[in-house]
Amino acid sequence: MSKLSFRRALLGSISLCLLFAPMAQGEELKDWPHIDSAIKPDAAMEAKIAKIVSQMTLRQKIGQMTQAEIKAVTPEDIRKHYIGSVLNGGGSWPYMMKHATLKDWVKMSDGFYDAAMTTDMKTKIPLLWGTDAVHGHGNVIGATLFPHNIGLGAAHDPELIGEIGAATAKAVRATGINWVFAPTLAVVEDQRWGRTYEGFSSDPLEVKDYASAYVTGMQGDFSKAGNVVATAKHYIGDGGTHNGKDQGLNMSSESDLMNIHGQGYYGALGAGVQTVMASYSSWTDGATGKDYGKMHGDAYLLTDVLKGKMGFDGFVISDWNAVGQLPGCLNYHCPQAINAGIDMMMVPLEWDKFIDATVADVESGAIPMSRIDDAVTRILRVKMRAKIFGARPSSNPYAGKMSALQARDLARRAVSESLVLLKNEGNALPMKKGAKILVVGKSADSLGNQTGGWSVTWQGTDNANADFPNADSLLTAIRAEAGDVTYSADAAGVDVSQYDAVIAVIGETPYAETAGDISNLTHTTRYPEDLKVLQTVSGKGRPVVTVLESGRTVYANDLINLSDAFVAAWLPGTEGKGVTDVLFGAKDFRGTLSFDWPSAGCPGQAPQFALGYGLSYAKPGTVGALPVSAPVECK
Ligand code: GLC
Repeated sequence: MSKLSFRRALLGSISLCLLFAPMAQGEELKDWPHIDSAIKPDAAMEAKIAKIVSQMTLRQKIGQMTQAEIKAVTPEDIRKHYIGSVLNGGGSWPYMMKHATLKDWVKMSDGFYDAAMTTDMKTKIPLLWGTDAVHGHGNVIGATLFPHNIGLGAAHDPELIGEIGAATAKAVRATGINWVFAPTLAVVEDQRWGRTYEGFSSDPLEVKDYASAYVTGMQGDFSKAGNVVATAKHYIGDGGTHNGKDQGLNMSSESDLMNIHGQGYYGALGAGVQTVMASYSSWTDGATGKDYGKMHGDAYLLTDVLKGKMGFDGFVISDWNAVGQLPGCLNYHCPQAINAGIDMMMVPLEWDKFIDATVADVESGAIPMSRIDDAVTRILRVKMRAKIFGARPSSNPYAGKMSALQARDLARRAVSESLVLLKNEGNALPMKKGAKILVVGKSADSLGNQTGGWSVTWQGTDNANADFPNADSLLTAIRAEAGDVTYSADAAGVDVSQYDAVIAVIGETPYAETAGDISNLTHTTRYPEDLKVLQTVSGKGRPVVTVLESGRTVYANDLINLSDAFVAAWLPGTEGKGVTDVLFGAKDFRGTLSFDWPSAGCPGQAPQFALGYGLSYAKPGTVGALPVSAPVECK
């Protein structure tokens, strides 16, 4: 029985007893499927593209395959070297100004566009500017930030996801940008992975549904002014590496790769996604033992499967300097990757060396011209489908509009739908309006902890609440609902009996990518302050409602035992009122776990709460005292 059928069987048993946990059905694939894209080939467009390519020099072609970081390239570079794309990485802003205004963003984008229009090419080709707006336009001060994907997965609401994709696209257009490196379609199998929160679910079929909805909302067929190019990432199997090691080794069988890790791509390609980002991870076929190496050099999966069998006719972008991890390659020189199927190279800083080295590779025959022409054809196809020719960034109706950067009601709804109630005893919840509340915990008034990674900065660190001007912390939201609120992060010296109830807001501090990798899921080992504050306020005759903000499910039985109610809030983003809407009863809980909740710090045990679990006011449940195990080193 494959992992998928085991998972579906498990889901089946869970859904039988949970009844309301819908179980998506999918046929077990025996080979990689051909996917009919929502965006069909256009013969007239193809003829136009072929003509343009035939008139391009080699250097112009390689220029189109080059993506440079905005802090390392000028408009003059764009013009001189025919650069086809730029990106701003996490924590990169125009002129390195963290508080760059929309005007600054749009001005920079217009500058790049104008430069591309003044090259000596026969046909001037505009650029694609890519950004990681992975939970709203995270790089931009003042943007609404949605819950990270792990929370959205708990909402089980593809319609909501489509709206979030569309709202994020408009926000990105407000800054003159036309490409988003999202959605992440990882099917996360080990939550010790630092990017767990970028995944929607451990259920492959939910990832497929979400992929389709997100791409349709964000990109669609480019018929709306707000649409931007979307990216299915990271192809393939980023969420299934051994021990959850970021950029590590996925040892799935090919059957599991296609039936588990491929599902999101079937949804995204079906919705017409135009770009795919390759994964840093590697693949060894767990069934045959064949080592395919790094994804960025895997011609079988990048070309034979993705472009051949699945029929993907957009382009593949590499990840940040990822090709430098291939044997014999440098960040700026890797013919193996291009021959394997990478069409555009994210070579943020050494883009000039990339151009020179790749021109030389084609001249030496290390890279056939046919491969270059295929890559450039794909890039031009996406640019034409995206309607960026003749579209100066500031001419977009959303350009410069602060209103396009905001979607607070939508985000507030997403927060409410994402919350999962793990425990609620003694009628601790809903809170009574006007109650006298003691708020404790390090995360109650921390918009940094509330938004997590990919928020203003790459890691989500080095931010103050002032960096989120259009946001409500949980503390702000509680103050708006309750009568008399006192906040003490550690509750030191506070007489709890003076209050009607306690709300403790605890959790993880921000991280992104490899920095978030852990070896053990025991929360209090990493954050002892969270246990300490609950020990201070618990057992004092007042109900304790704990809200945990985290990018993954964690082993927290010790914390749950000290709480009368326990809410998994994930990484909610800027809209803290989405939490209090539910805590104070305006809305009921509707979220259910999209990942198993662990019963120990190391994987491999039966879950404490299984995928699909979630209580509500309408459907209460009793948890009682949970067993607490001493932390151990995971194997
Ligand atoms: C990062 C991430 C990728 C992101 C890219 C550009 O390393 O792996 O998800 O899109 O670089 O920021």
